[in-house]
Amino acid sequence: MILVAGGTGRLGSLVVADLLARGNRVRVLSRGTGPVPQEVAPSEVMAGSVTDPAALEKAVEGVDLVVSAVTGFPRTDPARVDAAGNELLVQAAEGVGAEVVLVSVAGAAPDSAMGLFRAKFEAEQALGRSSVRGTIIRPEAFADLWIDLLATTARRSRRPLVFGRGDTPTGWVAVGDVAALVTRVVEQASLRGTTYTLSGPERISVTELARRLMASRGWPGSPRHLPVAALHVTARLPGRSGRQAEAALAMDQPSPVHDDTRTRVPGLPSTPLAELLGRAAVRSEGHEP
Ligand SMILES: NC(=O)c1ccc[n+]([C@@H]2O[C@H](COP(=O)([O-])OP(=O)(O)OC[C@H]3O[C@@H](n4cnc5c(N)ncnc54)[C@H](OP(=O)(O)O)[C@@H]3O)[C@@H](O)[C@H]2O)c1
Repeated sequence: MILVAGGTGRLGSLVVADLLARGNRVRVLSRGTGPVPQEVAPSEVMAGSVTDPAALEKAVEGVDLVVSAVTGFPRTDPARVDAAGNELLVQAAEGVGAEVVLVSVAGAAPDSAMGLFRAKFEAEQALGRSSVRGTIIRPEAFADLWIDLLATTARRSRRPLVFGRGDTPTGWVAVGDVAALVTRVVEQASLRGTTYTLSGPERISVTELARRLMASRGWPGSPRHLPVAALHVTARLPGRSGRQAEAALAMDQPSPVHDDTRTRVPGLPSTPLAELLGRAAVRSEGHEP
């Protein structure tokens, strides 16, 4: 039995669907605060939070591999979910002798300017300290999510809003490509026990991504920018807005990324941004004002 914590999320639901389609038995841990995606429904969905040791003890019963695709960002404090919650999940896995595949982030570091990245680093460290055989997957930003976010900020102006300078090159990766790596790692024991960084095929800034989104929809002009000074003020606020502003400021700082995953795991998909922009345009049809 495979437990997928975060199996209702953007990445997790694709992983669950892939694993079910390949005949695996899958259990999903969810707080149960939202609807269960259709593709996840055939799995065994168990209510509980990664912050609750008793719920985790039940969730790992009969499990030999745990996938963590959870995140509290941006709604809740990553220190609670991505750091402490993942540490509890690792302890629960250790209790039943299960392996763990931890979805972290590219750039996770103890001195990152972003709380989420520090929390992910703490989770990686907790996994390393445990006796569990662990695999860490560090994707760059999910291209599909960012295309949707930029499209949402464009609304009537048809000019996406970029938080900050937005000039740092990023290797936007398709969430489906990340799901394919997670599934490969889950199904092939020889690929486990190591760390993978996964980037997309192109490295462009968020401003350039916004420009390409505009070009793909035929929107004239150029993206708008939320000034860095405004982000500094917002980053001091507690809660979601503060965390998002802090993340935008951190994204303006380039951090080196070394991705050799497609050499180590041959045959992984590498979906071009143009294809993701095209799919997003099709999804948005019918929602245009
Ligand atoms: N989005 C990106 O650009 C990006 C980039 C690199 C890495 N990642 C990582 O990739 C993974 C998946 O990201 P995503 O964008 O697919 O996330 P998402 O769509 O926001 O989903 C988050 C998931 O976490 C679960 N969750 C949140 N708090 C929980 C708690 N206390 N207990 C149990 N489950 C909890 C949610 O489940 P319920 O709501 O059902 O409880 C949901 O399934 C995360 O680890 C994320 O940090 C994301």
